[in-house]
Amino acid sequence: MQPQLKSKVRCLDRDVGEVSRVIMDPLSFEVSHLVVSMNGEGERQVPMAAVQIVTDGLVQLRSSSSEVVGMPPFKRDDYVTLHEVEIPGLEKHVHVTPGEVLVPFPELERNVKRRTFFANMTYVTGLFIGLPLAYPILKFLMKPMYAPFDNRWLKIGNIGKVKTDDTGVQFQYKRTLKEAYMPESEIEKNVWVVKATPAVLEKVYQGKDMEFRDAAGTAIWTNKKDMPYLAFSGKCPHLGCAFKWRKHKVLGQVFLCPCHLSIYDASGKVLDGPAPRSLDMLPIQVSASGEVQIVDMEFKAGTKSQTRIV
Ligand code: FES
Repeated sequence: MQPQLKSKVRCLDRDVGEVSRVIMDPLSFEVSHLVVSMNGEGERQVPMAAVQIVTDGLVQLRSSSSEVVGMPPFKRDDYVTLHEVEIPGLEKHVHVTPGEVLVPFPELERNVKRRTFFANMTYVTGLFIGLPLAYPILKFLMKPMYAPFDNRWLKIGNIGKVKTDDTGVQFQYKRTLKEAYMPESEIEKNVWVVKATPAVLEKVYQGKDMEFRDAAGTAIWTNKKDMPYLAFSGKCPHLGCAFKWRKHKVLGQVFLCPCHLSIYDASGKVLDGPAPRSLDMLPIQVSASGEVQIVDMEFKAGTKSQTRIV
């Protein structure tokens, strides 16, 4: 006779509980263990070899109650129910409620919850199928973000436009830009050029030439400390607004940013306002014929240190 769920379990010395589940061997279709609920002391996994006789509503063991207490506790995660696996023909051999009949969980899946295991497998399979398809698209989208900086010299006008020392003069120019995956576009930009007196040059260079490097650290140009022309990026280092050369009631001629009223002197040094650093200097050269060229660079706004972004 097959053990029944809820059958009383009796040891040699006393009753210890009842049958709460049945574990089957999926190959032999034999009951291999009973799970015995021990009257509030957990569940034990009792091998069928310990069963002496099964009668209607009672399972008699050939073990003492202390031996049953010493048997392995039942670990639910090590088993799956017949609802979750299909073993053809197994139910015909079992005379208990199918949902309470367990079979061992496959060894390879023991450490991963079964549903998680299959879900993860689905994701991994999807990734393997999708990655080769997505790679060219991702490469196309991301390439511009990692493109090296453009360090070409741009002609912006003739230096004859700068007539007075220590005075900001705006030069406008056009630049072709490629922003991420957007098509190329031409934008108008501006830079401020100052013909600096030695006092202003000293404030800027403090006795040292200024070297510019690319993202890889290679030097691309050096502004010589005694070359009188300075070029400042047209973007305010506070939050990137455009600033102007204006007359201030107290400070005289200054660079004034109208957005949050940052004020800079002709050397680009901050005189007032929230700007975290001086105006950003750019590489500049002036040819014998007076043609002015700069390397267009942009830097992260709002930071004390200078980080190039374009
Ligand atoms: S952006 Fe220039 S002061 Fe804020």
